[in-house]
This record gives sequence, C-alpha cells and structure tokens, in this order.
Amino acid sequence: MKYPNLFQPLQMGIIRLKNRLVMSPMTMNYATEEGLATEKLIHYYLERAKGDVGLIIVEGTFFRTEGKGYRNQLGLSSKEHAKRLRKLTEMIHGLNNDVKIFIQIHHAGPRANSKVTGLQPVAPSGLPAYPGAEVPLALTEKGVKELIEAHIEAANRAKEAGFDGVDIHCAHGYLVPSFFSPLSNRRSDAYGGDLSGRTRFLLEMIHGIKEGLGKDFPLTIKVSGDEFIEGGLGLEEMTQIVLLAEQAGIDGVMVSAGSVGAKKVGDLSQAHKVLRTLPMMTEHGCLAPLAAHMKKALRVPVITVGRISHPALAEEIIVHKKADLVAMGRSLLADPYLPQKAFEGKEDEIRPCIACNEGCYKRIFEQLDIQCSVNPMLGREKEILIGHAVESKKIFVIGGGPAGLEAAYAAWERGHKVSLIERNKELGGQLNLASLPPGRKEIKRFTNFLLNRIKRTDVKVITGRKGVMPFIKKSQPDVVILATGAHPRSQDIPGLQKSRAMTAWEILADEKKPKGACLVLGAGLVGCEIADSLSEKGMKVILVEVLPEIAAGADADTKAYFDMRFKKKGVEIHTGTSLQRVKGETAILRRGDDEISVEVRTLVFAVGAEPNDRLYNELISSGSSVIKIGDCVKPRTLLEAVQEGFQAGSTL
Ligand SMILES: Cc1cc2nc3c(=O)[nH]c(=O)nc-3n(C[C@H](O)[C@H](O)[C@H](O)COP(=O)(O)O)c2cc1C
Ligand code: SF4
Repeated sequence: MKYPNLFQPLQMGIIRLKNRLVMSPMTMNYATEEGLATEKLIHYYLERAKGDVGLIIVEGTFFRTEGKGYRNQLGLSSKEHAKRLRKLTEMIHGLNNDVKIFIQIHHAGPRANSKVTGLQPVAPSGLPAYPGAEVPLALTEKGVKELIEAHIEAANRAKEAGFDGVDIHCAHGYLVPSFFSPLSNRRSDAYGGDLSGRTRFLLEMIHGIKEGLGKDFPLTIKVSGDEFIEGGLGLEEMTQIVLLAEQAGIDGVMVSAGSVGAKKVGDLSQAHKVLRTLPMMTEHGCLAPLAAHMKKALRVPVITVGRISHPALAEEIIVHKKADLVAMGRSLLADPYLPQKAFEGKEDEIRPCIACNEGCYKRIFEQLDIQCSVNPMLGREKEILIGHAVESKKIFVIGGGPAGLEAAYAAWERGHKVSLIERNKELGGQLNLASLPPGRKEIKRFTNFLLNRIKRTDVKVITGRKGVMPFIKKSQPDVVILATGAHPRSQDIPGLQKSRAMTAWEILADEKKPKGACLVLGAGLVGCEIADSLSEKGMKVILVEVLPEIAAGADADTKAYFDMRFKKKGVEIHTGTSLQRVKGETAILRRGDDEISVEVRTLVFAVGAEPNDRLYNELISSGSSVIKIGDCVKPRTLLEAVQEGFQAGSTL
C-alpha cells in the first residue's frame, strides 16, 4: 500500500474510523426551502461514502430559523428533518463499508441572512460581522441560554437520526466564534469578559450535549485556528479555547482558519491569510501548521483542513504528526472516489479540484446549488448512470479543449466509436493558456487528468488536423460534436497601428511579444491575468476598463488577489474609462468628460471572445447531425464547457 499511514484506522471516542480521511462539512444548498433532505442530497453523500472516505461530516445544518445562512440549507430543527436524515444514515450504514457519518450543527449568528430568514440576525453583541453587514440583535442572557438548549436539542435529534457523532461549527465568524472573540463579544454578563467567559457559551453546550447523549457519543468542533483579522483571535488564544473544550469532553477538533472582517496581511506569500476561500494561488496544506501547533497541546485527535488534495501530502501530514486526520472538502466534490483511488495507487485517475471556486464557493454566496467545474456529475449522482448505448455509433468530436475531451470520453464510455480531432498539435485548448498566468498552474492538473484519461481509452486522437470537412464527408460519422471554442475579440481603435496591437491570448501563446509600456484594454478575468503576467515580468502596465470595477463578476477573493498583486507591482488602473484613440505612442482615454493621455508602446486586447463556430453551417449543409458545445456556443467558463461536453457525450 502506497499510503500506509493514511489508511491506518483511528479510534475516536467509541467509534473506530477506518482511515484518516475525513470529508469536511460543506453546505450544498441541495435541501428544500424548509431544509428537508432531498434525494439529490442523499445520493450526493452516498457517492462519497462509496468512495471510501473514513468519516463524512455532513454540512452545517440550521436548527433555528434566525440562524439560517442559505436558502436551501439543510435543517435539523424538527422531527421531520430528522426523519429524512435517517434515510441518509441508514443508506450509508447499509453500504457495509464501515464509513462513519457525523453531522455539523450550525447557527450563522451575525452572518445569518435576513433576506433568507425574514428575521434579524442575533449575536452576543449588536455589532455587524463586518462593515456593511446587517446589525444583529444582541442576545439577552435568557436568549443565550435558549440557544445553548437549541444546540443540545439539535444534537439529540442528530443521534435520533442515526448519526455516529455531532460536530459544532465554531469557525469562520458564525455564532459560536463570535462569542469567543473580544471583537464581537462585548458582553458584561457571564458569557463575556475574559477568555473563560467568552468560551462559556460553548462549554455549557458541550456539557449539555454530553449529558444528553452519553459521555461516549462522539462530539467534535470545528474552529478557526487563527481568524487572520485585525483584533481577532490568534492561534494561542484559540488553542486555550480548544483546551477548555477538551476538558469539557470533546472527542476531536477540526482546525480551519479565517473569519469575516478586516484582513490582517496584505502580503502575497501569506495569501491564505487574506483569501478565506483558499483559491488556487494559495499553498497546498497552508493551514496544516495551525493544526500541528494545536496537536502539541491536545490529547484528542486533531483534524487539519484546507487545500489538501494530494494523497501524498495527506500521508506526509500524518507521518510528521501534524494532525491525526486529514479533511478534504472541495477535492471530494471533484472526485468522491479519491480515497479509493489513493488506496489503489491510481493517483493519475483522481479528478483534481483546481481550487477555482467557480462552481462551489462562488455559487454558495449567490444562494445557488453547488456544482463543480471539473466534475459534471456532482449533484446528479442519482440521475446519472452511464450504461452502454443500445447501438454503437460513429462519433466525431471536433476540438480537443475541455468540452471536447469531456464529450469524447463520455461518448466512449457509452460504447461509441469516437474520433477526437484537434487543429493544434496539442490537446487541451484554452486550458493550456489559462494555466500560464501567475498563480494558475493548478489548472494544468486538470488538463493532465483529461489527457491521461483519454489515453486510457481507444478514442482515436488526431491532432494538427486543419480542414476537417473533406475528412468528415469521407468518413460519414453518425454524429459530430462541435467543440471548437472561441477566438479573442479585438476592436477598431482610431490611429492604432496594427503592429502595436495584439490579443492577450497571442501573448500567452507566445505568438507575439509585447514591448515597452502596455495598455491592457479590458479588466475582466483575462485582462487581469495578462496584466498580472506582464507586470510580473517587470513591464509597465496600464489597465483600462469601461466598467466601474476590475474583475467584475469574479468572486471576492479573486478580486482581492488582483488588488494585492496590482498594488504590489504598480499596475496603473483606470476604471469607468474607455480608450478613444491612439496617436503615435500616446493613447487617449476618456473618463466622463475628462480626457487622459498615457504613453504606451503596445496595446493588448482583452475585450472578450467570440464563438468559433464557422464549421457549424458547413456541417449542417453537408447533412451531418451536429451538437454544439462549450465556448463555440457562447464563451463562458470551464464549468459550462465540462458540463456540456459530458451532457453531449453521455446522452448519445
Ligand atoms: C461550498 C462550500 C460550503 C462550505 N460549507 C461549510 C459548512 O457548512 N461548514 C463548515 O464547517 N465549512 C464549510 N466549508 C468549508 C470546508 O469545510 C473546508 O473547510 C474548506 O473548503 C477548505 O477545505 P478544502 O480546501 O479541502 O476545500 C464550505 C466550503 C465550501 C467550498
Ligand atoms: S468548482 Fe473548482 S474549487 Fe470547487 S470543487 Fe470544483 S474544481 Fe474545486
């Protein structure tokens, strides 16, 4: 076995975990609006259990309406909730592979959303969680005691529903940690004041749960080892809090990090302290040192979490005793079978999470159900059963980017005879360029996965093939899947000499070399990435965007990342500004009534893309049956490309 330590069992309270891999709790927004477990939710968890993770901690569940954070959050406030959840625990226990299942009880406190609950959020003191957040109602002492009782009742319901243990969400600035922190807890009663007063809320809850459920019933907590915010709690104080919780009877602790509020550090080497959602530019295993520190002080098992997606890293963490257990969140969204594949030494077959946050974190903050950019099956585990097609067809997939690669594989899995034709010498399409800017090499992992996977099939791969029409006419495929992507847009700018203009894609592909000061026109994701790349090489960059902000539509962490980078590299940013004309080496910009002149030698277009669907009409006229997918329908993200590729291939 390649990872002997990772696959060692561990005793936690009265239960025995079969290995050291834990599924971190993740709110999926798959429940009904009342918070009832749906078939979609049950089958999503069942699939992770089949993948052989040792312990699943089911997502944060609300048990009081005012503590709900998300519209379709799972609930545990009634017998009906518990009844539906019993079906989940029975199915998982019925699998007979000895996977354990806990549930996390969660009160969002000052981070609850009155648009979702219709109620004012509550908190230890009437202070918003961050500037601009809703002002919460300060809890009375009676209110505090009621909430402790509500946590205890929720834990009882979890046991009734058949869970093997309960986890209390004490991280990320929700209700329990807002009692811990002097920033948010200004109470003068027994639940405020010094550290022991601020921890009392949790300790009374732990005593009550243990009294009700029995000393041996496993109870864990999830904490932010460091809140990484100005005036927030650091590692030493958090360790003291967890020590008190250990004395009160918890059986384990998961150590995460971060909270909401003013971030402490603006230095990129410490990106994980600033970027709470741990995007692809943060280091693998960046939070493990927090767990390692706590582990030295504690007797109960410590679980580390955060950007751990390689089994080898998980093994190393266990070997070096940085933690007793390793939790994975997004990596198990991307591939529920990661544990099984690691056990069998099939790392190449693991569909890697690239920490893009497009399908998960971004969607949860938009109150949408969770999807995954690299895993089109996520949330569709019940409906998707790939079996062989009744009749094996001849399928041609034109375009070897992510949409085409996904379509070709899915069609092959259905038993069709598939040819994949790419005009460039290499497969990968846009992914090859997308992985080049600073901080984005993680994308390469997904490209490698797609390429390795197609190699394991007998899909006929033809690269470097320009003009495909004669070939198609001669071969007469039953279906053509068109996945020819998009090409970059450019604009006519009065006075601009063609020799000075290029697209961001041409620079990334090394087809053209920019010289001197560069004006990047368009500060969407591609514009920001190329500005980042050029400034990283020491070039002067002027970024011009017609919208009022850069990286519009991206998640908050991506924006924060570019803000940090551009400040550090001195990128000159002009938002709400258009490019009017160019005269020699002077570009004339307009913002409102003002004209601004800037000196530039190169103009880089990053103003979006257009579908590359020239073949479509030709194919239709030749009588082919054609399905268009991905960017050649409309340029969008990796998520849509992969989903449409999978959909096309798996339904033929
Ligand atoms: C969509 C989404 C929902 C999450 N919901 C929860 C939650 O309900 N409770 C919790 O403790 N952490 C939650 N998290 C944080 C994860 O449990 C985990 O700590 C984080 O994703 C870092 O681990 P990873 O890099 O392995 O994904 C959520 C994360 C994601 C991506
Ligand atoms: S959407 Fe991106 S970050 Fe989220 S699980 Fe999928 S690959 Fe990972």
